[in-house]
Amino acid sequence: MKITKKIRLELVRRAAAAKENAYAPYSNFRVGAALMTDDGSVFEGCNVENASYGLTICAERNAVFQAAMHGKRNIIAVAVASDDDVFITPCGACRQVLAEFTNGSAEILLTTPDGKFQSVKLSKLFPTPPALKKLAGNHNT
Ligand code: THU
Repeated sequence: MKITKKIRLELVRRAAAAKENAYAPYSNFRVGAALMTDDGSVFEGCNVENASYGLTICAERNAVFQAAMHGKRNIIAVAVASDDDVFITPCGACRQVLAEFTNGSAEILLTTPDGKFQSVKLSKLFPTPPALKKLAGNHNT
């Protein structure tokens, strides 16, 4: 599926909307993500923090897990939004989790609150994903 300007704008808008549901009382840093899979489905996520800080889930992984739960495993684009004026990029853990469900050509749309965005390929942010053999005969893979 081709990622058009219209799709990019929609993902940017939906990432900003998802940010509104962020639960970030500890960092006060709200993040939203919206991704599209190859069939055109969109899934959103926000960061959800915890009093035990390390249990926090980032917006990007939250969105990826929503997609996986719906059986969608081929992500083609992801927008990430925060309240910061600089273009934030996914953390290392999120880059790796995204890599599990994309080929390297997936687009990461980095955004600012005024609606500007920059597109960068996941393969640039995470060039050498681990390549493990998937188990033959496991029908859940
Ligand atoms: N966070 C995300 O959700 N995504 C990012 O790309 C950067 C970091 C969250 C984790 C934590 O809740 C807060 O932002 C501060 O790190």
